[in-house]
Amino acid sequence: MKIISVVGARPNFMKIAPFIKAIRNYNTQLNPEIIPPSGGTEGGPSLGSGRGLKAIEHILVHTGQHYDDRMSRSFFEELEIPEANINLGVGSGTHAEQVGNTMIEFEKVLKAEKPDWVVVVGDVNAILACSVTAKKEHIKCCHIEAGLRSGDMTMPEEINRLVADRISDLLLTPDLMSSENLRKEGVPEEKIRFVGNIMIDTLEANREKAEKLDINEIISKNIIQEVRGAGYGVQVSPPSGGVGGRFSAGHRALCDYAVMTLHRPSNVDTKEILEPIVRFITNEVCEERSVIWTIHPRTRKMLETFGLFDSIFKIQNLILLEPLSYLEMLRLNMDARVMLTDSGGLQEECTILGTPCLTLRWNTERPVTLMEHGGASVLVGNNIERIRSEYHTALEKPRMPFSPELWDGKTAERCLMAILENREGPPTS
Ligand code: UD1
Repeated sequence: MKIISVVGARPNFMKIAPFIKAIRNYNTQLNPEIIPPSGGTEGGPSLGSGRGLKAIEHILVHTGQHYDDRMSRSFFEELEIPEANINLGVGSGTHAEQVGNTMIEFEKVLKAEKPDWVVVVGDVNAILACSVTAKKEHIKCCHIEAGLRSGDMTMPEEINRLVADRISDLLLTPDLMSSENLRKEGVPEEKIRFVGNIMIDTLEANREKAEKLDINEIISKNIIQEVRGAGYGVQVSPPSGGVGGRFSAGHRALCDYAVMTLHRPSNVDTKEILEPIVRFITNEVCEERSVIWTIHPRTRKMLETFGLFDSIFKIQNLILLEPLSYLEMLRLNMDARVMLTDSGGLQEECTILGTPCLTLRWNTERPVTLMEHGGASVLVGNNIERIRSEYHTALEKPRMPFSPELWDGKTAERCLMAILENREGPPTS
């Protein structure tokens, strides 16, 4: 069997890494002479006896939507993802450009490679482009992380999810609510398989490594250069402790800090929305504790466009970082007092780690992460009153880790089993 799996943008990488490991394990069990790069079979339940079965041929395609080292390469290195076999090089652009160029290039790959299955993960533009192209080439398509619905058609990701789920042959869901969403949309039962959350496989596999990272070093390594230039930066800390500059020894940044990430167009593309959020952080939160803000390229561009970027350098207690690697972000999350974010993945990671999470959105496609379902997240939209009130409530909350059903670090194997059991493919409608 030949599988092409597709990645395009940052959140895809931590979802595909365990799937590729599961394929490697499967092939190793069929032929123990194939030693995976990291050695051994990497644990987990047996994927089959191997007798009479052929190894899976796997091709990794990167659409190239994210291309910076910090948005792409660092994840390949840390998560031991093999170099993509094919990079479509679509780069940045409008959604139509990204989707159109991906389809044109991916069609050529499919015609040349003729895979049995195309596997897409998550909700970025790649899944729309590649699922449609696969189906037009009569190739079976599997969507990992199917069934999530925000109900918000202004989100580009919601359109991507709806299209990919409507046409895919196998829909692997992270939670039971997502399976139910698919049923309500009339998806035949045989296409739906509840497998758990594949991104948590990556979290569990990397927890120990992340724990060993030093927060001072993460800050020193990633602080935005202009901050150093302005004389507000972190100096490299001596091995025994305290960081220099405005984060002198014993500074609150080390034991009591908030982490913020923002990148959704709905939060960052409009000055009237972004500026009050920035002012709340700088005028109120930074008065009480350090805020570590890892700045996404889109957000940086918009802060510069709105003339806000220069002013935030001068804020005491605001630590501006470049986009972090997977392990670095996980480390910061582990000890954060509170997370402020519009990322879907962080809502999930905060739930597992128990970090109180203010989700700066009005809706979520991941309700299982909400406090009313046992998770760590509360929706605060971009209304400052609401953000302020929930921020103070969050500070009172103890850390309460929670694992939804099947978020157990073994989802990738269940994904692969589901594909193997559907070798001939379920009925397509
Ligand atoms: C994309 C995904 C979003 C995901 C996010 C995580 C879609 C529709 N959106 O949004 O679901 O949560 O990734 O990051 O697929 N840029 C760089 N370097 C890069 C890539 C992008 O500087 O390596 C800049 C470009 O100026 C670009 C901007 O970032 O215009 C936004 O990138 P884009 O690919 O359009 O989408 P994201 O906002 O990153």
